[in-house]
Amino acid sequence: MKRNVILLAAVAMLAAGCCKQSEPTDNASVVMQTILNRKSVRSYTGDTIAADVMQQLLKAAMAAPSGRDIRPWSIVVLTDKSQYSTVFEGNFNMQKFMESGAVVILCADTTFEAPSRDNPDGPAIRQVNHLWRDDMGAVTENLLLAVEAYGLGACWTACYPYEDRMAPIRTSLGLPPTVVPYAVVPIGVPTTDNQPKDKWDASRVHYEKW
Ligand SMILES: Cc1cc2nc3c(=O)[nH]c(=O)nc-3n(C[C@H](O)[C@H](O)[C@H](O)COP(=O)(O)O)c2cc1C
Repeated sequence: MKRNVILLAAVAMLAAGCCKQSEPTDNASVVMQTILNRKSVRSYTGDTIAADVMQQLLKAAMAAPSGRDIRPWSIVVLTDKSQYSTVFEGNFNMQKFMESGAVVILCADTTFEAPSRDNPDGPAIRQVNHLWRDDMGAVTENLLLAVEAYGLGACWTACYPYEDRMAPIRTSLGLPPTVVPYAVVPIGVPTTDNQPKDKWDASRVHYEKW
């Protein structure tokens, strides 16, 4: 009887995911590999991205955390290469990205509608979202990681806060006044064997105190 109770407790602990942190699951090693293999890719074959793959990439992007769960993002996907040059007008790196299969423009509404913090039971009012930049960084990285997981390549290219990069995008895409083009991410099949950088630096870690 006592043995049965111990056995049951052990099974319950396993079912509850009670395992040593130092032993990664298969899933953990796949995730770690994807994160550590991510790299900026700036040379593409010109092949297009299948629509269902693109949807998966965008789904990963939108799974990002978001302050107050406001989710300020909207995403514009370009597959028509004639539109690329307008989007990259203010960016000296443009030529490198012309052969990407798609260009994803990650946009953010800098405002949102909700009752104010001072009057939580009051009416919804339009207000500034102070956390939109943080959210967009998370969205962008999620997208890059999904791209890596699909064996594709991408490069985060800065848009916000450079006015010369944002202006042509605002105009050509017809963005609403409160929406900012945050980043432009060309995605494609890489031409070269790009290697990730090893950025681990133990000296940047401080335990308990700086
Ligand atoms: C905020 C941000 C803006 C960036 N802007 C550009 C850019 O405009 N053009 C570009 O070629 N790469 C850009 N990059 C990519 C960086 O150059 C790249 O991440 C960095 O060199 C590290 O290399 P890795 O991504 O391969 O690890 C940007 C990256 C970040 C995070």
